[in-house]
Amino acid sequence: MHDDCYEHILHLRAIRNYRDEPLAAGDLEQILEAARWTGSSKNRQNWAIVVVADPDQRQRLAACGDYTDPIRHAPVTVALVQEPDGYEFDTGRMAQNIMLAAASIGVGSCPITLHRENQAHHVLELPAGSRCRYAVALGYPAPDARPARWGGRKPLSEIAHRDRYGVPYLR
Ligand SMILES: Cc1cc2nc3c(=O)[nH]c(=O)nc-3n(C[C@H](O)[C@H](O)[C@H](O)COP(=O)(O)O)c2cc1C
Repeated sequence: MHDDCYEHILHLRAIRNYRDEPLAAGDLEQILEAARWTGSSKNRQNWAIVVVADPDQRQRLAACGDYTDPIRHAPVTVALVQEPDGYEFDTGRMAQNIMLAAASIGVGSCPITLHRENQAHHVLELPAGSRCRYAVALGYPAPDARPARWGGRKPLSEIAHRDRYGVPYLR
């Protein structure tokens, strides 16, 4: 028997097209709360979130990466900041929490790489030692919001190994 959480994990897709409408404050708050509860190495929580909704600032942030149209189209993007002694793994966990929490309340999301980190550092006015390479665009899915055509996943038989690499997990 699967609960909702498991279903959301299996059906989560990056949504790149959004309705032209702001995100309700309550929805954003719930998503940020889920982000806040993400676990991190030694519970350090060496991270920060910059909520970018200002239209000009969204464009400036979009210019920091190569495939950032979702930032341009979404009403809100949350930039995930890794503070000194933080780990990229933890930021990834936070991104997935954000995406799953968003999906569970009907909000679409797309993870975004900011390839030009120095530019993102400048745009977000980050303190020295902090970095931001990832962001998540958020918005209500447009009626025609189709997932990318390259969706789908490798079968378990291709990725899972038993005890040591090269021994298939599935017998
Ligand atoms: C680390 C990471 C970076 C990503 N960067 C981008 C991006 O810059 N632009 C974008 O449109 N999608 C980005 N994506 C979304 C992926 O392209 C998408 O999740 C993947 O192709 C699988 O498609 P699906 O989510 O529809 O199943 C990124 C995903 C990850 C995990």
